[in-house]
Amino acid sequence: MTNAELILEAKKAREFSYSPYSNHPVGAALLTKSGKIYHGCNIENAGYGPTNCAERTAFFKAVSEGVKDFTAIAIVGGKADGELVFCSPCGVCRQALVEFCDPKSFVVYLGTSKEDYKGYLLEELFP
Ligand code: THU
Repeated sequence: MTNAELILEAKKAREFSYSPYSNHPVGAALLTKSGKIYHGCNIENAGYGPTNCAERTAFFKAVSEGVKDFTAIAIVGGKADGELVFCSPCGVCRQALVEFCDPKSFVVYLGTSKEDYKGYLLEELFP
């Protein structure tokens, strides 16, 4: 799985976003150490609290199936009717990532296309 392919998987996940309140669909593709991908999208709610970000959707799918070893996540987002933008994880998601990933090796890729992405070590985002 290349970084570019992981971005494309996140784009696929974004298709399933339920985001009628923000109009800002986000997709995530979480890569496990064994090479499997868990997809996630943001799932909004009329109440702000129950809204789940794409990253946490992917993590909760994996962990709920007994998988806890991860190498990277790709995130793709932007307004539904606009360009993709670099979409950085919120504080709650960073906290959730750190619970399961090694900050010194886990990489967070933010992308707008398979040619245009940047990678950050988790420790850069959650010092
Ligand atoms: N969102 C994500 O799913 N991931 C991010 O990294 C940033 C924000 C979602 C939450 C909300 O549904 C919408 O994007 C607008 O903030």
